[in-house]
Amino acid sequence: MRFKRKSVVITGGTKGLGKAMAKAFLDEGASVAVNGRNKDAIAKFQEEFKDKPILAFNTDVTDYEGMEDMASRVIGAWGKIDILINNAGIVNPLVPSEKMKKEDFDRTIDVNLKGAFYAAQIFGRRMIENKSGRIINIASQVALFGEKGFLPYALSKGALPVMTRELSYEWSKYGVTACCIAPGFMKGGMNEGLLRKEIFVDYLSKRTPIGRMGSVDELVACVLFLSSPEAQYINGETITIDGGMTGYTQEPLLDFITKGK
Ligand SMILES: NC(=O)c1ccc[n+]([C@@H]2O[C@H](COP(=O)([O-])OP(=O)(O)OC[C@H]3O[C@@H](n4cnc5c(N)ncnc54)[C@H](OP(=O)(O)O)[C@@H]3O)[C@@H](O)[C@H]2O)c1
Repeated sequence: MRFKRKSVVITGGTKGLGKAMAKAFLDEGASVAVNGRNKDAIAKFQEEFKDKPILAFNTDVTDYEGMEDMASRVIGAWGKIDILINNAGIVNPLVPSEKMKKEDFDRTIDVNLKGAFYAAQIFGRRMIENKSGRIINIASQVALFGEKGFLPYALSKGALPVMTRELSYEWSKYGVTACCIAPGFMKGGMNEGLLRKEIFVDYLSKRTPIGRMGSVDELVACVLFLSSPEAQYINGETITIDGGMTGYTQEPLLDFITKGK
């Protein structure tokens, strides 16, 4: 029960990776509040965890007033917010940048970047008042080295390590620290549809030195560790969890040269 009496907010915790994080925090004794846009997903979440200390809100992270209201309700219910997992996110339609629609660019930046800042500020203020808090921002490995077709996603996620460092500089004196996680391609969440295609799984596995995609459990374990007191001194840092994919070249220069001989 590592998180007994802890109050945790997970944006976009109604499904995918966020929901897996919610389950893990609940199993470790925490109270967990989530939000999302899809009412069916919220109802499913409420049904699945009906015997647990949960709150679920139909709130878009881009709706500042709505997020303020969510924070007030969480404080009203549990008195404090110990941990914020800034997890809500979307991927833009994968097209070359010259074909990217303005509305897709804007929406991706709004949700992934502005939404993450709004949540950090809104929940962070409550943490500052309480002189204690931990913020974990969920970026992406795509943010660190780019990927064709992902420009707004990479831009928005690329800003999160920067935001994490800024927040740690400003808020550590109030007892509020921040970390960021950059996951590679995990076997769950927004990849769910693609996972049914073996060719996709094979392709991504081969692009990873470790030879496979990451499991949701591996990501959740990292989130819980970084949220725990044991990780308190890790502050302002971005942890990549991608099996070594970042910067990895499938055919290294040495192999190419050796083949040519
Ligand atoms: N899966 C991966 O391999 C992977 C890799 C790297 C990074 N990530 C990041 O991990 C996070 C979770 O991704 P996932 O794979 O679990 O995706 P997912 O299954 O699509 O879940 C995304 C969650 O965010 C919520 N959400 C989306 N837009 C929102 C908005 N405007 N306001 C409030 N909630 C919103 C969704 O609920 P509604 O749709 O109902 O709003 C859902 O609960 C994302 O930030 C993603 O970029 C994922």
